[in-house]
Amino acid sequence: MAFDLVIRNTSEILPATGDPALPREQALAPVPRAALGITQGRVAFLGPEVALPADQLGPGTRSLDARGGFVGPGFVDPHTHLVFAGDRSGEFALRCRGATYQEIARAGGGIMNTVRATRAASEDALVASAAGRLERLLEQGVTTAEVKSGYGLSAADELKMLRVIQRLATSQPVSLVPTLLCAHAVPEEHRADRDRYVSICVEEIIPAVADARLAVFCDAFVEEGAFTVAEARRILSAAQARGMVPRVHAEQMSSCGGALLAAELGAACADHLEQIDEPSMTALARAGTTAVLVPASTFFLKQRRYAPGRMLLDRGVSVALATNVNPGSAMSENAALTLSLACLENGLTPSEAYWGFTRGAGNALRLPHAGRLAVGDPADCAVFSCASHTHLPYHLATPHVAAVVKGGQVVFERSLPPCA
Ligand code: NIG
Repeated sequence: MAFDLVIRNTSEILPATGDPALPREQALAPVPRAALGITQGRVAFLGPEVALPADQLGPGTRSLDARGGFVGPGFVDPHTHLVFAGDRSGEFALRCRGATYQEIARAGGGIMNTVRATRAASEDALVASAAGRLERLLEQGVTTAEVKSGYGLSAADELKMLRVIQRLATSQPVSLVPTLLCAHAVPEEHRADRDRYVSICVEEIIPAVADARLAVFCDAFVEEGAFTVAEARRILSAAQARGMVPRVHAEQMSSCGGALLAAELGAACADHLEQIDEPSMTALARAGTTAVLVPASTFFLKQRRYAPGRMLLDRGVSVALATNVNPGSAMSENAALTLSLACLENGLTPSEAYWGFTRGAGNALRLPHAGRLAVGDPADCAVFSCASHTHLPYHLATPHVAAVVKGGQVVFERSLPPCA
C-alpha cells in the first residue's frame, strides 16, 4: 500500500524505542538521514532515506521536507490543568512584590480563586479557552496531554470539567487523557468539616465519574493546606477500586509523605517532588512509580529547590517531564522552557530531558504507543528546525517546531529558518 505521507531530508529521526535501561542517548535510538513513511495514520516505515521503498511512493503520497532538521515523537505532556476560567495575573503581581503562593491561598486566593471563576463559567466558555491553550501546546510539538479537573470541587462542577475535557478530546488534534482531581483543595463551603468533603469525594464524585467513564486517573494534592496522607489515601483507594489509576501531587512545598503514598498505592506517577527525601526516592524506584518533574512551576513560584532529577535517575526512578500549565503555578505552555530548566536545574542531560518528555511521559500515562515511533505506532511526530535534540534545551525557550503530524495528518506547519 502506498504511503500517505513521507517525511524526508532529516538530519536524523529519534524513534525512542531503545531499551529504557540503556543510557538515554542510546534509548532514543537515532537513525541518521532517516525517512518516515506513514500509512493510514500509522508509522509504516522508519529507516535510512536511501532504503525508502520506491514502490510505496504513489501519486497520492505527500512529501514533507524536514530541511535538514530532526524528527522525533510528538511530546507527551503528562501533567496539565489547562481547563480553567478567570485571571490570576493580579496574584502574579502580588508575588512579584514578595507575597508567596501559600500566603495568597490562605487569604482566599490561589486555587479557590480559579474554582470560583470555573464554577461560574459555562461549558462552552471553558472549551473555548482551553482550546487556545491546547493550540499553543500543539505548536510546541505536544501531541498527547493529560488534563485534570480540580477547579470544580463538587460533583456537578467536577463532572462539568471532565465533560469539557471529553469535548476537547474530539474537537482538536491533541489526544487527551482525563484525570479526576477532586482532591485539589478543600472547597470553602466544607472548610469547617473536611471529613464531609472527603466523604463527598468517595461517595458521590468518584462513583459518578466512574459510572460516566470520564477519567482514567485520579490525582490528589498532598500538602499542608491541601490534603493529608490519610485523606488522600481514602480518596485514591476509592478511585482505584472504581478502576481509576492513582497519581499524586507530592512533596511540592514540603516533604509530607505524598511520594511514599504514591509508592504504597502503586501509583503511575508522583509529580513535583521538589522537597523529596532519600527514603521516598527509594520507595518510588521500588514501586516503579514515575517521577514527573514540572520545573516551569518551580521557576514560576521562585522556589529555591528544584526536584532532584539527577538523584532520582541515579536511584533507578524513571523521570518524565511536564509543563504543568495552570493559572497559578505555571502559566506557560512552553515545552521548550521545561526542557531547558530540566537540564539547568533538575540535572538532566539533554537526552534524558528529551526522553522524559516523550517515551518517559508515555510510560507515566501508561500509554505504551505514545512518545515513540515504532512501525505500527500512531504517526504522532514533530519536525524540528534544528539538527539535534540537544539544541532544544540549549536554545532557551525558543520555538523550533516546524511541523506537527498527528495520526498521520499534518496539523501544524510553519516556516522557520534552519538552525544549526
Ligand atoms: O500542580 N499544586 C497544585 N496544583 C497546581 C497549581 C494549581 C493552581 O495554583 O491553580 C500545580 O502546581
